[in-house]
Amino acid sequence: MANLELIGVEKNYAGTRVIHGIDLEVEHGEFVVFVGPSGCGKSTALRMICGLETLSKGDIRIGGKSMRNISPSKRGTAMVFQSYALYPHMSVAENMAFSMRMEGIPKAERRKKVAEVARILQLDELLDRKPKELSGGQRQRVAIGRAIVRKPEVFLFDEPLSNLDAELRVQMRMELARLHKEIDATMIYVTHDQVEAMTLADKIVVLRAGRIEQVGTPLELYENPCNVFVAGFIGTPSMNFLDGVLDGGKVRIPALGNLEIPAEINSKSSGDVVVGFRPHHVSVTEDTQASLSLDLTEQLGGVTYSHLVAATGERIIVETRENTVGTPGGNVAIAIELGKAMFFDPVSQERLR
Ligand SMILES: Nc1ncnc2c1ncn2[C@@H]1O[C@H](COP(=O)(O)OP(=O)(O)OP(=O)(O)O)[C@@H](O)[C@H]1O
Ligand SMILES: [Mg+2]
Repeated sequence: MANLELIGVEKNYAGTRVIHGIDLEVEHGEFVVFVGPSGCGKSTALRMICGLETLSKGDIRIGGKSMRNISPSKRGTAMVFQSYALYPHMSVAENMAFSMRMEGIPKAERRKKVAEVARILQLDELLDRKPKELSGGQRQRVAIGRAIVRKPEVFLFDEPLSNLDAELRVQMRMELARLHKEIDATMIYVTHDQVEAMTLADKIVVLRAGRIEQVGTPLELYENPCNVFVAGFIGTPSMNFLDGVLDGGKVRIPALGNLEIPAEINSKSSGDVVVGFRPHHVSVTEDTQASLSLDLTEQLGGVTYSHLVAATGERIIVETRENTVGTPGGNVAIAIELGKAMFFDPVSQERLR
């Protein structure tokens, strides 16, 4: 039995449907990451799971039990928000013990529990400080500690690291991965950060406009996206998409000088298709397949992203190890790894296989 189940979950706000029937099963101990564009319903879904928001339709079960008539405090969930929302007048220890105090747990037991969680989060030395005397990362750890002391069945994280600087994010990301191993809890995690999603998740759920587009392991989604949206959403820089024309076992690509590439597609034999290939599957080579104009170059040090424009006006990004592939305005000869190309239906946007 799954630890957490969402069954036909819908949400309407004043007649507008923002969640259109979500079905999802999460096993005990899984780390599930929700990704999707702003406004697609990620926070709403978390809020419904922890009971801060009612369901318009469907059911949510935790440990097989319906949560429909269970109050937020009785669900065994704990939510960590982007804004840490700590009590400024309380010390770190008091902030972490607050929910236990409300439940009437004796002082000695509260102390013991806080000390145990502080050790896991390396907050031992900071227990007497007030939130204003802590760095952003330390505050975030206190907010996480406050959730852990409640021993929740399911942790809900809504973009918990987005207020932190780049270095702290990396540090906290590793700490969260370690924490997940150490406390063996189910975690649902919302993020806009691709690296967080790819590295933390056992399973990624891609949402768009209140619907699940695809669920899978990070590499399944990267290597085997089911449609144009998922293919374009997972991976940085995004996958390149060009118009193509399917004829028998070949796809002709006008933007690449009518280059013909082999295509094993069973569901369609002719007509328009969308060809997708990732920026690192293009190389700049003498062994030219096509020549495109260089618009601009983004040099990141280790890799360079070159933005090229075809005669058709279509654009692609090429990822190379070299710092420069040419001069802006000039032509660049490229070749793509033919076996890596994916094909999609331009109308339904679904993957063609
Ligand atoms: N209380 C509310 N009343 C009306 N509409 C709401 C309410 N809360 C959220 N919405 C709408 O529901 C949709 C989903 O919002 P939600 O906050 O879940 O998005 P999100 O995926 O978390 O976005 P973001 O990445 O920007 O945080 C949005 O269109 C939003 O405007
Ligand atoms: Mg949100």
